[in-house]
Amino acid sequence: MNVQRSSRVITLFNQSGGVGKTTLTMNLGYTLAQRGHRILLVDLDPQASLTTFMGIEPTELESTLYDALLGEVKLSIHPSIHDMDIAPTNINLSVAELELVSALNREARLKNALLPFNEYYNYILIDCPPSLGLLTVVGLTAATHILVPIETEFKSYFGTGLLLDTIARVRRHVNPELAFAGFVPMKFDGRRSQHTRTYSQMRQELKALSTVFPPVPDSTVFPDSAEERLPLSVFKPKHPAVKVFSEIASGLEKL
Ligand SMILES: Nc1ncnc2c1ncn2[C@@H]1O[C@H](COP(=O)(O)OP(=O)(O)OP(=O)(O)O)[C@@H](O)[C@H]1O
Ligand SMILES: [Mg+2]
Repeated sequence: MNVQRSSRVITLFNQSGGVGKTTLTMNLGYTLAQRGHRILLVDLDPQASLTTFMGIEPTELESTLYDALLGEVKLSIHPSIHDMDIAPTNINLSVAELELVSALNREARLKNALLPFNEYYNYILIDCPPSLGLLTVVGLTAATHILVPIETEFKSYFGTGLLLDTIARVRRHVNPELAFAGFVPMKFDGRRSQHTRTYSQMRQELKALSTVFPPVPDSTVFPDSAEERLPLSVFKPKHPAVKVFSEIASGLEKL
């Protein structure tokens, strides 16, 4: 008997900017969708990169995530873009951070907005903004799991302690069940010694916490596929990173 279990709600989080959170959200969502799962992407970043990468024009949206978080209306979902559904956002969300400060039950606003969809989707992937602010806490409170992309650069890895402190705080105060889905080394260039050093350090130091997945290679194919509003597997199906996304997706299926 095939019993539908509740969604795995995976929040992609790293307070560092530009490490590849949005790229990973869209590509893992697509890979999981191709493996037969029902996928919802949630854009929790006022920059609206995920909304844009998925081919939606943020300024033309009538209803966004902001309305679900602050107006407490039903989450607006755009269906079937590259076999995924998306709850899009736009710059209106930037005021949510301030407005939520005085809101009742503020941390649980996204968790509650997602409740009606928990049986339907196999995976809900939440793309966080690059900050440790309230929106990120809202994203971590809604999550069952957290997936952390980390650039294989010394400077980026340096911020991991701060990131782990935030997760510990969220666990202590609002979401004790929050589990790690793993760490994803990003933008890895095996010819650069700093990258191989940082990658090996990540594997040694983080493996006690969770899986350290194989690295996603550094390649200009990523900005190019984002510009075309396409997942990598559609833009360049034979690119080596496609296999890496499959390996990560298969890890997420074991959660
Ligand atoms: N593996 C990669 N190799 C090279 N470039 C990449 C890779 N992954 C993502 N990029 C590029 O790096 C830039 C930042 O990626 P992305 O927007 O996914 O990061 P982010 O962590 O979501 O950023 P932000 O913190 O601003 O939300 C984009 O131009 C993207 O195309
Ligand atoms: Mg992003």
